[in-house]
Amino acid sequence: MFLEKMLQSQGFGARKHCQQLIKNGAVSINGVVVDNPKEKLKLDDLEFEVYQEKYTYREKVYIALNKPKGYECSHQSTHHFSVFDLFDDILTNRGIQCVGRLDQDTTGLLLLTDDGQFLQALTHPKKHVPKVYKMLTADEITDEQVQQLEAGVELRNETGIFAATDVTRLSSNELQMTVHQGVYHQVKRMIAAVGNKVESLHRQQIGQFDLGDIAEGEWIYLTEEQIQLAKQRDE
Ligand code: URA
Repeated sequence: MFLEKMLQSQGFGARKHCQQLIKNGAVSINGVVVDNPKEKLKLDDLEFEVYQEKYTYREKVYIALNKPKGYECSHQSTHHFSVFDLFDDILTNRGIQCVGRLDQDTTGLLLLTDDGQFLQALTHPKKHVPKVYKMLTADEITDEQVQQLEAGVELRNETGIFAATDVTRLSSNELQMTVHQGVYHQVKRMIAAVGNKVESLHRQQIGQFDLGDIAEGEWIYLTEEQIQLAKQRDE
């Protein structure tokens, strides 16, 4: 691939802008400035520098963010920050999208990608990728509520029954459960349906990928192995 095209694919701007960066001597590979926009490159394990900043070539990007409170998943957020404010322009230029949504007041694991197939695989309603949530509730969680959540509840304007698995009371007002669909405000509505209220909500896991020790507001690139874990569906 030509150097100018590679830079463009990585989010460094329009072809003309990339050509200019290269001609200005801003781009180097293995410590050597390359000022020919048409330099042919092998992409395997390619690393390069732009203005002395190191980058790794990635055909697609897969990101796990620990979303803080007060951030919306939309590009044009209205009342809050946008999660896209947490990323450099070169990533947003690549057109990364949220894989599903978290409410602005929900914290925890949010995946982002510019790979449309990956996004589809995780968000398609028929694919049923499990998601683990932890929450604090307004009222004490009763045995009956746990049983109702496991048996399944109906949600207004949605068809079918919404059941959780692995419903675990962590303390009197703290619950963990796994949900298997992804309808709007699903967890808050399920908890409301059994007569309680979510006070704060946190997503811990998608598929078999756990948020682990990613600090709030921080993010990582997923490895190939982590991508496969995130895609693990229900049997
Ligand atoms: N369910 C909710 O109610 N809110 C979220 O942010 C995610 C799941």
